[in-house]
Amino acid sequence: MTVEPDQIAIPGARHCSSIIGGKPTGDDSGGRLTSSNPALLSDVVAEVALGDQATFVEAARAARQAQPGWSRVPAPIRGRVIAEIGRLVESNKEALARLVSREVGKPYAESLGEVQEIIDTCDFFLGEGRRLYGETVPSEMHDKALFTFRMPVGVMAVVTAGNFPVAVPSWYLVPALLCGNTVVWKPAEYSAAIATALYECFVQGGIPEGALNLVLADGPATFGGLSAALDEGLVNKVGFTGSSEVGARIGELCGRHIQSACLELGGKNPMVVMPDADLELAVEGALFSGFGTAGQRCTSLGTAIVHESIHDEFLARLAGRLETAAIGDPFGDVLYGPMLDWRFADRLDDYLERLVAPHHRLLGSTGTGRITSANPRVGFLGDPDAGVFCHPTIVEGVRADDELAVTETFGPMVGVARFGKFDDAMVLANQSGYGLSAAIYTRTPEVVFAFRNAISAGMVSVNNSTSGAEAHLPFGGNGRSGNGSRQSGRWVLDQVTRWQSLNWDYSGRLQKAQMDTDNVVANREFRLPD
Ligand code: UN1
Repeated sequence: MTVEPDQIAIPGARHCSSIIGGKPTGDDSGGRLTSSNPALLSDVVAEVALGDQATFVEAARAARQAQPGWSRVPAPIRGRVIAEIGRLVESNKEALARLVSREVGKPYAESLGEVQEIIDTCDFFLGEGRRLYGETVPSEMHDKALFTFRMPVGVMAVVTAGNFPVAVPSWYLVPALLCGNTVVWKPAEYSAAIATALYECFVQGGIPEGALNLVLADGPATFGGLSAALDEGLVNKVGFTGSSEVGARIGELCGRHIQSACLELGGKNPMVVMPDADLELAVEGALFSGFGTAGQRCTSLGTAIVHESIHDEFLARLAGRLETAAIGDPFGDVLYGPMLDWRFADRLDDYLERLVAPHHRLLGSTGTGRITSANPRVGFLGDPDAGVFCHPTIVEGVRADDELAVTETFGPMVGVARFGKFDDAMVLANQSGYGLSAAIYTRTPEVVFAFRNAISAGMVSVNNSTSGAEAHLPFGGNGRSGNGSRQSGRWVLDQVTRWQSLNWDYSGRLQKAQMDTDNVVANREFRLPD
C-alpha cells in the first residue's frame, strides 16, 4: 500500500513524560532521550523525559489509590468505557497507524493491522463487561449454596516492547481495566509518542484519572521501581512482553513476592515444509513471517525446516522472492522498513558475526548487515543512509548443532535446514527450548496431527505462517517463551482476575463438610442374572 506524501505530513516532535494520576509529570529524573523516526533519523518524533525508580513507585501508588473506586464501577459500565475506547481508536486509526510507522518504522499496512488489533481487542472485551461470569455450584449439603466470583487482581504493572507498541499493550490494558484492575504501563522508551497517543485514547474514552498511569523509564529504573513497588505491596500482578532473559529476571522477582507474572517472551519459531506442501504458499509464508516487521516479531520465523526432496526448490524460490522484494520507506509498498531502533541493528551485526559458520551459505540480498549507500541493496526504496535499514539474510545449511538453530535473532535473518525423516524435523523444531509459534505446510491430515502432538509450541499454524495470530485465540508460549500464561480471548481473564469462592449456609446450623452429608444406600453385591 502506498501513501500519498500529503497524507504523511505529521506535526513536529511532541514532548512526552510519565503521566501519573492523569497529570503529565515532566519528570526527567531518569534523563532525557530523543525518539527519532528510524527511517529518517533527522525526523524527531518525541522529546522524552524519563522517570526513575521513584517515578514508577509513585505511579503504582496512584494506581493503588484509584483501584477501589474503579473496581466499584459496575462491570457493564466498565465495558462501555472499553467500547468507547475501541470506537475512538477506530476513529483515529489512520493517525495512530501513521505514528506507529513514523516512530518504529513498520510498513503502513502492518501499522493499520496493529491498530486494528486494539479495536478487535476492545470489541471482544466490551461484551465481557456484561459476562464476567461466575458459577453456581451445587453443595453436598442441604440448605447451602456455593458460588464463584471473578475478582480483580488489584494493581497490574505492564511492561511492553516496542515491536508492537500499541497492539500488545492493549492485550493487557483492555482486559485488566475491564476486570476492575488499575494499571501502571511502562512502554518501550523508543515508542514513547505512540504510547502517549494510546494513553490519550484510553483517557478520552472514559478511564478515570489514576486508573491508568504511564511511566516512561529505561530498563534498570523500571526493574528497580517494580522491585520497590512489590516490596511496598503496591503491585499485585505483572505482565511482561520482551526478551526471555529479562522475563526470567521478572519471573524471579515476582516469585519472591509469591506472584506469578504473565510472561510473553521470545521465540525461535520453526516452519516444517513437508514433501506434499503447496510450495508457493510455504514460500510466501516464510517470506512474510521471516521478514515482515524486519523479523522483529516474537512470532517471526526462525528456521524453515524443509524436506530434502523439495529443499533446493524451496530455497531457490524463497531467495528469488527475497532478492526482488522492496525494502525501505515504510510508507511505500515494502516487505519491511527500518529496524525498530538502533539496538536491533547492532545486535543483528553481532549475530551475523557470531552465528554464521563456514558451512553456511548466505542468500537473499546484495549484502549483509546495514544497508547504506556503500553497502547498497538493489531496488531499495528511499535513502538508506537516512535511517537504520538492514539487508535480509537467508542462512542456508543450518544444522541441529549450530548456535543459530537455538538463538532468537529478532531481525531479518532466517535459517533454512533440511531433513529426511519427520522425527528429525521434530528434533530441529523443538530443540531451541523456546515454544511460542510453529507452522507446518502439508496436505496430509495425519501429519498435521502428528506435528501438533509433538511440537512444544503454544501456537500452531497449518499451511499458514508462524506470525499473525488473531486477537481472540490464546496467545503465549512454553519453555523459554513463557511460563504457561496466555493472553487474549477469555483465556487472559485468568491473568487479570482471581477466583473467589463463596459458600452460604442458610440451614441455621453448623454443617460440617465431608461429615454432615447424606449417606448413599447402595447394594454393591447386586448383579444382573446371566
Ligand atoms: C509479538 O511479536 O510480541 O501474531 C506479538 C503476531 C502478532 C502479535 C505478535 N499478532 O504476529
